[in-house]
Amino acid sequence: MESCGRVVSSTLAVFLVLHLGLIPIMAQQKELQIGVAGQAVILNCRGIPQGTGVTWKYSKAVIRLFITTHLKGKATMTDRSEINPTSKHLKVLDLRLSDAGIYTCEYGSHTVSISLHVFKLTISLDGHFLPNEVPELTLMQNSTHPLPNLNITFFNNNNNIVRPKFLPNGTPQKYTLMLKQLEATDSGTWMCHIRSDSPLINQNISFDVKVLGFQNPDSERKYATADSTVILSWYLNFQQIKWKEGFTGQMNWKQEESATAHELLDFNVTAQGEQHETKKISRFRFEIPENKPKSTIQVELSKVHFNHSGQYQCQLAYSGRHTQSKIELVVMKVSADPVGPLSRGAEMTLICQVSSPLPSNAHLLWKYMNGTPTDIKKSKQHEVKVEVKVSAAGLWSCHLIEDDDSKISLNYIVEEAPVWLSYVVIGASVGGSILVFGLACLCIISGISWQRRRQRAKRMSRARQYLLENKTCQCQHRLNK
Ligand SMILES: *[C@@H]1O[C@H](CO)[C@@H](O)[C@H](O)[C@H]1NC(C)=O
Ligand SMILES: *[C@@H]1O[C@H](CO)[C@@H](O)[C@H](O)[C@H]1NC(C)=O
Ligand SMILES: *[C@@H]1O[C@H](CO)[C@@H](O)[C@H](O)[C@H]1NC(C)=O
Ligand SMILES: *[C@@H]1O[C@H](CO)[C@@H](O)[C@H](O)[C@H]1NC(C)=O
Ligand SMILES: *[C@@H]1O[C@H](CO)[C@@H](O)[C@H](O)[C@H]1NC(C)=O
Repeated sequence: MESCGRVVSSTLAVFLVLHLGLIPIMAQQKELQIGVAGQAVILNCRGIPQGTGVTWKYSKAVIRLFITTHLKGKATMTDRSEINPTSKHLKVLDLRLSDAGIYTCEYGSHTVSISLHVFKLTISLDGHFLPNEVPELTLMQNSTHPLPNLNITFFNNNNNIVRPKFLPNGTPQKYTLMLKQLEATDSGTWMCHIRSDSPLINQNISFDVKVLGFQNPDSERKYATADSTVILSWYLNFQQIKWKEGFTGQMNWKQEESATAHELLDFNVTAQGEQHETKKISRFRFEIPENKPKSTIQVELSKVHFNHSGQYQCQLAYSGRHTQSKIELVVMKVSADPVGPLSRGAEMTLICQVSSPLPSNAHLLWKYMNGTPTDIKKSKQHEVKVEVKVSAAGLWSCHLIEDDDSKISLNYIVEEAPVWLSYVVIGASVGGSILVFGLACLCIISGISWQRRRQRAKRMSRARQYLLENKTCQCQHRLNK
């Protein structure tokens, strides 16, 4: 009896030992696997011998069997799953958050359990942005075990870390976070890096960010000399980023900040990437260059004039939002006052001016190229012109300097009036003085003769009076004769 009891208890002990020994084995087999919503996951039935049938279950519901052929079960993911005939792995496609849970693979008397932890990452606006917009991301997780607190970081398209801003009232089920303000150069594949210590998770989820925009800066300045040909270009990035949506845009010009804008052209790009442009104005002379590069907006201004200066703004619109990039055209010209050759001893003023005030890192500069050391005259800050008084012939050159770089320059050749021309001038002046002298003499002479004439006239009238007074006696005298 005693021995019997001992046998029973020892059997129990053996059973207990066996059972205890089994627990860690069972725990080992229930391995953790990570899946990402929208993607596929492959669940691995480890240790399955060749040619054995297998049954995959989800929470005890059959997904699929593979005995000699495929047989379908009734689990929710059945229609999104397949068993690999050789490896017997289960592939679940287009994973959902609700697919999280315990999966079992049964063959013979063996059962392998896998706990599937599912993450779902969603990005606002389906990942289609314009510059300066801030993507909002949502990360959700689902699992049968308690949800861990996650450590989430991002890597941008250049593999640099971007720390997100977490919005309050996040839970382990759902984190909402903001990335940074985007630029066109942020387009590409980003990575969301998820970590947790318990359970041990180290998972990357990639996602696409597309930022439709210009490769130009938001605002740039272009300098041109009067009468030159200017091409203004905006580079759109829709081809590089494989933007598969249609959008529209336009290009405007206004002379000054406060002036009204004139639409020069509008354009549209279809989802297939075809680009159309239409000129909108006839008063303003410009061309759309024929052989311009693909996905650019260009206007060509030939013989650019002072009044072509101003702000050229290109704008594009996508689903009611827009972005723009502007080019400020500054035109420079030189002139002389008075115009024409410089005669000996005379002075003229050379004027170099720009169509709008320059930024503080730029100025105008007149340089006399024939002198040593070079004569220089600089414009004061924010002045739109610089003048120089010139009394000798030679070559003058006006430069627009920005940050010690000469951006554009224009020459002015001061010509000396030829020598014969100065003789003509001297001759003319001498002739002129003679003429004046002659005129003066003439005046004096005529003045004298006029006085004489007046005296004579006076004498005559006096004589006439005398004659009238003595008329009678004269007659008498004549009669008496
Ligand atoms: C998580 O998974 C369970 C089991 O499938 C499901 O009932 C639940 O709805 C899921 N939670 C979410 C937020 O999808
Ligand atoms: C999160 O992970 C980063 C490195 O990936 C680490 O520097 C940081 O300390 C972690 N934060 C927490 C709260 O664990
Ligand atoms: C996740 O992505 C980052 C950035 O590309 C990389 O440095 C890291 O090794 C990746 N980690 C895993 C587990 O793939
Ligand atoms: C694009 O522009 C062309 C030419 O102006 C026009 O014929 C076409 O209808 C436009 N397409 C869209 C989608 O706006
Ligand atoms: C600019 O001035 C020129 C010459 O004065 C004139 O022919 C042209 O129409 C003007 N252009 C604009 C846009 O005002």
